Amino acid sequence: MNHQRLEKNVGLLALMMILAISVGGLTQIVPLFFQDVTTQPIVGMKPRSALEVEGRDVYIANGCVGCHSQMIRPLRAETERYGHYSVAGESVWDHPFLWGSKRTGPDLARVGGRYSDAWHVAHLKDPRSLVPESVMPAYAFLAQAPVDGKQTARKLQTLRALGVPYGDADIAGAEAAMRGKTEMDALVAYLQGLGTLIKSKR
Ligand code: HEC
Repeated sequence: MNHQRLEKNVGLLALMMILAISVGGLTQIVPLFFQDVTTQPIVGMKPRSALEVEGRDVYIANGCVGCHSQMIRPLRAETERYGHYSVAGESVWDHPFLWGSKRTGPDLARVGGRYSDAWHVAHLKDPRSLVPESVMPAYAFLAQAPVDGKQTARKLQTLRALGVPYGDADIAGAEAAMRGKTEMDALVAYLQGLGTLIKSKR
């Protein structure tokens, strides 16, 4: 009888649906805010170096995330190709997250150490020189662009305010560490640090 009334009243039905879905959703989502596996960094994790932080900004500024994800899903096809699936603790210090969702190119979550620095530089300057069928744009100009170190210390301070454990020495030395560095150096340093803490046995 009550159910019949519910089904005939659109407003009430909508309200009850929202209620039911909220309960279902929240019971899944809310516990994640309180679990260590989703809120704590994985064992041995160190904050990115100042150069890697700048490299991450080069990555963001050049739209790499538009073609590359950094999120290996726990599926056989993914772990065989990219390595151990991504875990939440690896990105607790990432602000913002760069998980992405578009994969025109391969996932980069564990690209660190897969190639040499020289490979990355050659590839970024001219992807077709190494992968003839590549559709990735060339980023040769990064090698000519010096990193502007003036903001580096403030970037680290901001990250520290958000919970990344930088020391005073990291912040004090940040600007000097950028001297003579190009955006190419910074980007390669960033790529080489990606996902290196967890390596799957191959
Ligand atoms: C238009 C899409 C596109 C954009 C934008 C793009 N890439 Fe790529 N990227 C690709 C494709 C496709 C490949 C695979 C072919 C190749 O290796 O060149 C690739 C490959 C790569 C690889 C090799 C990965 C591997 O495991 O072999 C790296 C590293 C990489 N890209 C980094 C970058 C960075 C850094 C940027 C931003 C500066 C960027 N890409 C921007 C499409 C893109």
